[in-house]
Amino acid sequence: MSKPASKTVVPPSLARFSSSSRLSENSRHRLIATLNERLADGLDLQSQVKLAHWNVKGPHFAALHPLFDTFASAVTGHVDDIAERAVILGGLAQGGVRHAARASHLADYPADVVRDLEHAKLLGERFDTFAEGLRASRSIAEEEGDIDTADMLTAMLQETEKHAWFLRATLGN
Ligand SMILES: [Fe+2]
Repeated sequence: MSKPASKTVVPPSLARFSSSSRLSENSRHRLIATLNERLADGLDLQSQVKLAHWNVKGPHFAALHPLFDTFASAVTGHVDDIAERAVILGGLAQGGVRHAARASHLADYPADVVRDLEHAKLLGERFDTFAEGLRASRSIAEEEGDIDTADMLTAMLQETEKHAWFLRATLGN
């Protein structure tokens, strides 16, 4: 009796749609995958920053309440650019909140935190996680020769690191 031939399962390409990009389908597949990871992280971060904006209490309220909203607006812009880049490359933006909750690399945000400096600490940790993901995705963009995606991620990384600095400085670090 002959053995059944082993089947190699080839995952379906994420680059399903036409694109004006000159990158190969395989390169676009890798980029769409990593951009969707950052999309999930960004959506989660945006939601967590808003939680902090709403629930913060303490002597630093007057500074942190509007600062957190500035962060949320910036992250909203990043999320939109990341999603649109994935679509420009011929993919789909997996931007539903239920998907983001499953796919995010960020730690859960504790629901009962109110103190101002505790929010600053928690958000700082999450901005660092988001920044790590941006660096990883930028490395993939560089490997694939996609300067445009790499540049976009560099700009986001610079703003993310700046906001992480604001949070560290608030904590006196
Ligand atoms: Fe508000």
